[in-house]
Amino acid sequence: MTHHHPLRILALSGSLRAQSFNTALLRAAGELLPPQAVLEIHALHTLPFYDGDAEDSGEPAAVTDLKARIRSADALLLATPEYNHSIAAALKNALDWASRPYGASVLDGKPAAIVGASAGASGTIRAQRHLREVAFGTQLRVLDAPEVLVAHAGTKFDAQLRLVDEPTRRVLASQLSALMRWTRQWQQLATSEAVQ
Ligand code: FNR
Repeated sequence: MTHHHPLRILALSGSLRAQSFNTALLRAAGELLPPQAVLEIHALHTLPFYDGDAEDSGEPAAVTDLKARIRSADALLLATPEYNHSIAAALKNALDWASRPYGASVLDGKPAAIVGASAGASGTIRAQRHLREVAFGTQLRVLDAPEVLVAHAGTKFDAQLRLVDEPTRRVLASQLSALMRWTRQWQQLATSEAVQ
């Protein structure tokens, strides 16, 4: 059975700054989506640090909200800046909250894709490797290819932070199409398992 509703993609950026290249990359993704999908960028500014005591004494509202959005999304699009050769703490923190409680993680089995932009030459390649390792721990189903590694981000976006580099726009569009197929495949597998 196929799903007829538009695929809902929840996009999370590990950068909290207003002029973020990573968040701009997610906005570009929203424009380059295939027609049968919708993308929502959810900001992580209000999320407190993961705290097991806070979790036990009544989950913070921002956490409940994040989990609900992830649960109802068909797929995630994660944008990570590279901070000191790794992922941004804000994104790791969001994944840590979302993975809880053990056994009821909203990340378990959720299709996802990774993008990243950095000011320098590496294009977040190290951060993306780390994010894949974290995602493996949460059982997110991360798309392998194509990778979206935006190096020298200052030259790929204009002054209004619109993604103007054509090759980058093409690879991003191609990744989004691949994410749609990947998501449908996992959903079909879940449906076929459910009827057996
Ligand atoms: C950076 N930056 C960076 N860039 C990179 O390619 N490799 C790195 O290891 C680091 N390390 C790093 C650490 C910290 C603490 C900061 C704040 C920045 C630079 C980074 O790529 C640049 O600031 C990007 O613009 C960050 O992404 P946003 O905020 O534009 O999305």
